[in-house]
Amino acid sequence: MTEDKTPSTPLLVAVQDLRIGMYVVAIGQQRQQNEIKRSGRITQRRQLEELMNLGVLSVWIDPSKTQQLSEPTAPSTPLAATATESSSAERDNRPRQEIRIRRLYQEAKTMQNKLFHNLKRGEPVQVDELEAIADELVDSIFENRDALFCLARIREKDSYLMEHSLNVGMLLANFGRFLELERPVLRELTIGGLLHDTGKIMIPDHILHKPGRLTEDEFIIMKSHVNHSISILKESKGITPIMMTVAACHHERLDGKGYPHGLPGERLNLYARMSTVVDVYDALTADRCYKAGMPATAAFRILLQGAGSQFDEELVRKFIKCMGIHPVGTLVKLQSGKLAIVVERNEDAPLQPKVKVIYSTVGQHHLEVKLLDLARPGVNETIEGVVDPKSFGIDMSRYLA
Ligand SMILES: [Fe+2]
Repeated sequence: MTEDKTPSTPLLVAVQDLRIGMYVVAIGQQRQQNEIKRSGRITQRRQLEELMNLGVLSVWIDPSKTQQLSEPTAPSTPLAATATESSSAERDNRPRQEIRIRRLYQEAKTMQNKLFHNLKRGEPVQVDELEAIADELVDSIFENRDALFCLARIREKDSYLMEHSLNVGMLLANFGRFLELERPVLRELTIGGLLHDTGKIMIPDHILHKPGRLTEDEFIIMKSHVNHSISILKESKGITPIMMTVAACHHERLDGKGYPHGLPGERLNLYARMSTVVDVYDALTADRCYKAGMPATAAFRILLQGAGSQFDEELVRKFIKCMGIHPVGTLVKLQSGKLAIVVERNEDAPLQPKVKVIYSTVGQHHLEVKLLDLARPGVNETIEGVVDPKSFGIDMSRYLA
């Protein structure tokens, strides 16, 4: 990429609005006095985090030297010197983490869109481009998976294929982490999820997006997406057996009644079995243009009904445990009649997560949003049950973003 050397007026940018590719010339405001070594281009998300950790609030950027990049392309160049007050960096790290995760999720969506766009033009999958984003998604799952899955609950109704693929990748990584699989396996599972439905680009739109039940002939065409995915991935460099398994086996079933090959359970390994559970869970809970997604609890019930016949029973139970009784993004009714959204699980007390209280069913009006930790001593609220946001006209995306 060539650079425009014409000098331009520096722009002051808040540190949370900094993007990869921007060229920093000077620090604007900062909370502490830390030495910044030199100016330079932001090439990695970690540099943004370093600036935040140093208490930098805003920076001056040179628009003429700024590159429009959608993802990191160069090795990391430290922009900032080591913090002299490193202990402050550890304080209150969560908001910064959340800002970074929000940015990462947006980039992952952009990347996934680009992938499908390129495939439609007949270009092969660039697995190496997916690796960096998969690594960062796995990192985020270890750091603050609740923040990531809150974002994942916001579905754009016309982006189903892209968002479903991204979410299957994230859910597989999260489930793999729960099963204590090695990090390289988590990365391969994530990429497998990102790629598992690529064959759907070959399915005509009127079948892919049909709101009603598919006819027998349409279903045969729909099912062919798996073989299309296999062909696409066979043509691509860097596809590993785990990635291929996720793509090839996510519609197989233990009883041999799945597709495309009707493989019996003994031919389905752990990764295949994980992908069947995760794919169904995400498909059931996703909002589509013609129907709202079902609550997680209802999806768990369907998985449990198929446990032992269609799905691996032990894995279904572990998946439910991994997601939590009330996964983040679930709307619940509290004993007081208030409605709240689960925003953070509590590992030690799964029935008492952190919630955002948003609505009073007694007064039938929205409330000033308040964060409430149901496990905190002195808090007397309990969850009465899961409710459907539609029944109260609640737009969940307003509260999850
Ligand atoms: Fe599929």
